[in-house]
Amino acid sequence: MDAIKNRPARVKSGISGFDELVDGGFHHGTVNTLTGPSGTGKTVFASQFIYHGTKLGEKCMIITPSESSDQLKREMNASFGWDFFRLEQEAMLSIVDVTDPVLRLQKSIDVDPVEFLINFRKLVERKLQELKPARLFIDDLMAFFMAIEEPFKIRSLADDLFGIIRSSNTTAVITLGTAFGLNQILEYGADSATVLNRERIGNVLIRSIYIMKMRGSKISNSIRLLDISDDGLFVSSLSPYP
Ligand SMILES: Nc1ncnc2c1ncn2[C@@H]1O[C@H](COP(=O)(O)OP(=O)(O)OP(=O)(O)O)[C@@H](O)[C@H]1O
Ligand SMILES: [Mg+2]
Repeated sequence: MDAIKNRPARVKSGISGFDELVDGGFHHGTVNTLTGPSGTGKTVFASQFIYHGTKLGEKCMIITPSESSDQLKREMNASFGWDFFRLEQEAMLSIVDVTDPVLRLQKSIDVDPVEFLINFRKLVERKLQELKPARLFIDDLMAFFMAIEEPFKIRSLADDLFGIIRSSNTTAVITLGTAFGLNQILEYGADSATVLNRERIGNVLIRSIYIMKMRGSKISNSIRLLDISDDGLFVSSLSPYP
């Protein structure tokens, strides 16, 4: 009984209906992936996780490898009124744009992908030490790994990166596009994996969500409807199928 009472508090996602599926939220200090095809809500989910953290007074960090950070800030402001521009000014949020030339990490076909990922890991490590965010969101990490062909290299580079994150006292949400099954290699290395999808019911397309795994936690086995409104993303208590 005491052991249950002494369980560490979970990190609340800020997504209505999600925490119930994973017995209360994410474990602190873990790496949590969100996988799904384009437009299923990965970036919105992770941005909402970050926005919620700032509302709780937590310092947060976003790393955007593929989209420019300005685009992300504009989209979240236009869609939901989440003002990442102001949060950045107030130093509640740091956004690291990896396409920023001053970081010398520009994606280029001339750069060896393994070398690029090693530099990326160093950058993440340096930024985590410098800023000590409570929450971290890395958008579209798959974009970096896609150029690496050998699965064992992907696994080993992902393990290195995830290890750095776990030892940094931050809770991370990482979005992954579904790329030729390579996302599975990263999901193996993560502490939890959530899958977002699009389903067709009759003539209607709906979004869905399920938890693939969460180490050290009970999880719901049901697929749920996922909806996006002006208030952000929420998980319904309903399933797409009867
Ligand atoms: N206020 C809103 N109400 C309803 N839907 C919205 C609203 N704002 C944005 N959306 C929808 O949310 C979706 C954006 O999802 P998101 O960018 O998170 O997808 P993603 O999974 O990250 O895709 P990608 O892999 O292409 O980056 C868009 O399809 C958009 O139509
Ligand atoms: Mg996205």
